[in-house]
Amino acid sequence: MTPKINSVAILGSGTMGSGIAALAAEKNCKVLLLDTSKELVLKGREGLLMGNNPTLSDVSKIKNIEIGSFDEDFNKIKDFDWICEVVVEDLEIKRSIFKEIDKYKNPDAIVSSNTSGIPLREITKNISSRLLENVCITHFFNPVKVMKLCELIPGERTSTRVIDTLRSFLEKVFNKGVVNGKDTVNFIGNRIGCFLLLKGLHESTDARKKDITIEQIDALLSKPMGLPPTGLYGLIDLIGLDVMNSVGLNLSKNLPEKDIGRDYVLLPEAELEMFKNGQLGRKTGGGFYRIKKLNETEKVKEVYDLDKKSWRIAQKYTYDNGISLIFNESLEGKLAWDIMGSTLWYAADLIPEIADDIVNIDRAMRWGFAWSKGPFELLDLAGSNNFINKCKEKNMPIPNMLKVLLDSGEKTFYKDEQKKYLSLDGNYCNVS
Ligand SMILES: NC(=O)c1ccc[n+]([C@@H]2O[C@H](COP(=O)([O-])OP(=O)(O)OC[C@H]3O[C@@H](n4cnc5c(N)ncnc54)[C@H](O)[C@@H]3O)[C@@H](O)[C@H]2O)c1
Repeated sequence: MTPKINSVAILGSGTMGSGIAALAAEKNCKVLLLDTSKELVLKGREGLLMGNNPTLSDVSKIKNIEIGSFDEDFNKIKDFDWICEVVVEDLEIKRSIFKEIDKYKNPDAIVSSNTSGIPLREITKNISSRLLENVCITHFFNPVKVMKLCELIPGERTSTRVIDTLRSFLEKVFNKGVVNGKDTVNFIGNRIGCFLLLKGLHESTDARKKDITIEQIDALLSKPMGLPPTGLYGLIDLIGLDVMNSVGLNLSKNLPEKDIGRDYVLLPEAELEMFKNGQLGRKTGGGFYRIKKLNETEKVKEVYDLDKKSWRIAQKYTYDNGISLIFNESLEGKLAWDIMGSTLWYAADLIPEIADDIVNIDRAMRWGFAWSKGPFELLDLAGSNNFINKCKEKNMPIPNMLKVLLDSGEKTFYKDEQKKYLSLDGNYCNVS
């Protein structure tokens, strides 16, 4: 077993692969960056030095990155301590890369996939049992340089030494916040975050019929709910409707049968039409919003009216309410309950399925999705009793962790200035 990681072979030089390569090079690791062609990797490596705020802050560290192609240089991975697979999100392609890794890697090397949500057991079907002990998921968030989160997910047979070595490396060398996930579809951050986005699109379709606009929805689903300023539609513009569509398809294949997210995996009709027309978001020059240049000096932000299928000037809105808006009976309050309230419900029901405790879930949402507070911190703020009463009023079952809280006779998930958290067995434990 590799006791220490000094070198990293990165397979795939796209957005995420080149981001991980830059971070490793910056930390003085020996890096091998491979892709389908050497020219492609060369372009990716050069891209690390471009712009005002280049991905690679210390330009001299570029010398730490050796480049090559899968066809000519795969055998070089034998000299690397950690092999990180970062190719396109396609199960068959990932499986074929893992077959090659199995052929060439040093028996002690650690292997990981950066998949956003395909279960590890699917990717590693039919690989050797020796490799199964050394393999896990390291799920970085975009941009790698900026986002603190890395979800670390062992497979059924991954040795604890592999996980311990990687955790220590990710925290101490890469300076990441490591969250312990499980081998479930979309892991933690994307499971909860994509539920919010997909349910958000569906609930908003109905709300728009009651004359609430896209800009109002985005203003509501940002600061007041503890979410980033992009809101719902603005964030999907950033991610891309194509990515949202594939996320939905992956969820439809891999979500447990009775998961409430199943009802929202397909894009609503209007968004599906946008996807089919290639109106995907920022990467195609516009999605729900676009910036229109009026002349050399002036530009205006426009919003796409999904119902009239035309563009108009976007209006600015702000709401001063906080999370307790979810209990309000106004149109905005009802929408906030239907989207944010149900996301908090969902998160509270996913322990122990996706994580063993509330701390890992709260950290995943803060560090990976830039929420100002995690779901359980928000429940403490809104008042769990209020939340339970609202669930009863709506004839909704009480989710797992709220049942634990209720049975424990306690009122909050955290206490002693967030130094202690309520565990699944109903006792408080120290936050480490
Ligand atoms: N972009 C994100 O926000 C993000 C965040 C977290 C995780 N991820 C995951 O990271 C992985 C890479 O995503 P990305 O955003 O860097 O994608 P990307 O499209 O930027 O890069 C994908 C790379 O895969 C390579 N590739 C394409 N077809 C291939 C094939 N047949 N064989 C081998 N390589 C092939 C491409 O040349 C490209 O360099 C995916 O699994 C994705 O889900 C992405």
